[in-house]
Amino acid sequence: KILILDFGSQYTQLIGRRIREMNVYCEIHPYNHFPAIDQTVKGVILSGSPYSVHQPDALIPDLEKIEGHVPVLGICYGAQYLCYSQKGKVEASETREYGRAMLNVGFSQSPLFEGISERTQVWMSHGDTITLLPDHFECIASTDTVKNAAFKIKNEPTYGIQFHPEVYHTTEGSQLLKNFVVNICQCQQNWTPESFITTTINELKAKLGNDKVVLGLSGGVDSTVAGVLMHHAIGSNLTCIFVNNGLLRKNEFENVLEQYKHMQLNVIGVDASDRFLNDLKGISDPEKKRKIIGRDFIEVFNAEAKKLTDVQWLGQGTIYPDVIESVSVNGPSATIKSHHNVGGLPKEMHLKVVEPLRLLFKDEVRRVGSALGISQKLLGRHPFPGPGLGVRILGEVTSERVRILQDADAIFIDSLIESGLYDSIWQAGTILLPVKSVGVMGDERTYENTVALRAVHSTDGMTADWVHLPYDFLAKVSNDIINKVRGVNRVVYDISSKPPATIEWE
Ligand code: XMP
Repeated sequence: KILILDFGSQYTQLIGRRIREMNVYCEIHPYNHFPAIDQTVKGVILSGSPYSVHQPDALIPDLEKIEGHVPVLGICYGAQYLCYSQKGKVEASETREYGRAMLNVGFSQSPLFEGISERTQVWMSHGDTITLLPDHFECIASTDTVKNAAFKIKNEPTYGIQFHPEVYHTTEGSQLLKNFVVNICQCQQNWTPESFITTTINELKAKLGNDKVVLGLSGGVDSTVAGVLMHHAIGSNLTCIFVNNGLLRKNEFENVLEQYKHMQLNVIGVDASDRFLNDLKGISDPEKKRKIIGRDFIEVFNAEAKKLTDVQWLGQGTIYPDVIESVSVNGPSATIKSHHNVGGLPKEMHLKVVEPLRLLFKDEVRRVGSALGISQKLLGRHPFPGPGLGVRILGEVTSERVRILQDADAIFIDSLIESGLYDSIWQAGTILLPVKSVGVMGDERTYENTVALRAVHSTDGMTADWVHLPYDFLAKVSNDIINKVRGVNRVVYDISSKPPATIEWE
């Protein structure tokens, strides 16, 4: 495997994904807290960082057991640190080196650039630059303005590059990473969905033996893939629980249960809609709503699980981005929204936790799901928040308002599917606003609700751009909603990106 040491760059996870894409296993760890370098570690990558090596609080890794022992690739800060810590010179650049640059590798014989064009586009993003290499370093590539754009330490397999090979704009970046990982580190490219499935099923069998497991399904990709994988490992010892909190999309509870039946999963569907809606009565504060929905979920799930006898394990669909302990530059981040997940469950239930997907990125979960034969329709579903429509109904949640939103949302989503737009969008949904406005229908005055449509492009939900949906598409959806959904007389489109807005409105 490859270890990636994280110095807080926004691109660290992207490095991981690029390496996994070549079917090589890698792990991301904080720069100051990583596992021992044993024979399984074939190479180490040092990430970029928002810090400068000159800052008094610059991040300093302990590379004693790494450098010279296994191949190392320093990217941006990683490269600057290697140089600076060995008496090279790193200085603030005169011109900001940000964006596209052409890298000349023509003069280089380095295996790092094998198969890469003599002039190749790379993406730079740094304020500091390496102005002097130590004597035992050699320069292996330059751009017109950055002489030491890449270097190697002479008698050891340690490399540094000042550009970012992991981003899309470095056109031959994947080849460069492959040269490092496969040729220099000699990693086997055998981390495939199939190998993951075989290994994981064997591990689950060994770990769980004849024990019983309960798992919460949400209809989403992660929990479904986790459920199917565990089902392959332990069969009927797995019981799944799917809770209807009354805040799902139109007909979702029934449709999803039906799909699970086809997958032969053993699923208990619990309809607790009344309880959730009852507890939400009169509450319009977003955080209070989230807390109530989260608490009710735990209680309902717990009560159902208690009816099962001899359960020792709680299965969860946790994925790698939730597990990675990222180096946060701004310290602990402020709570923007208290995310509802099943984090509170294990403590309440005194169960051991098993998380078969905890090593996978989202795109890998989909590939594994595909290899397990789960339908593309289910695997391609947009993310949907745990508190469901509860955070898309601004103000008080009532059954009537749930009905209005479900109907409007179904029209929007079905239209996206029909027009072939759904799969190119990361997430879409409809929001019911606490705003009534005057309209006219026929000769009658109306005074009714407003819904907002939201559609975003994103890769991980951390940042998002609103989608430029075609005007005629929006016109048709607006028309359909106003004509067909009783209680709505106005439709608006949300054109805010994240940041500064968030994807959900609450
Ligand atoms: P925001 O609104 O924070 O949403 O920009 C980012 C992504 O997270 C989803 N989301 C949630 N997912 N539990 C979840 O499982 C939650 O409580 C929750 N709140 C937001 C949201 O749908 C988007 O994909």
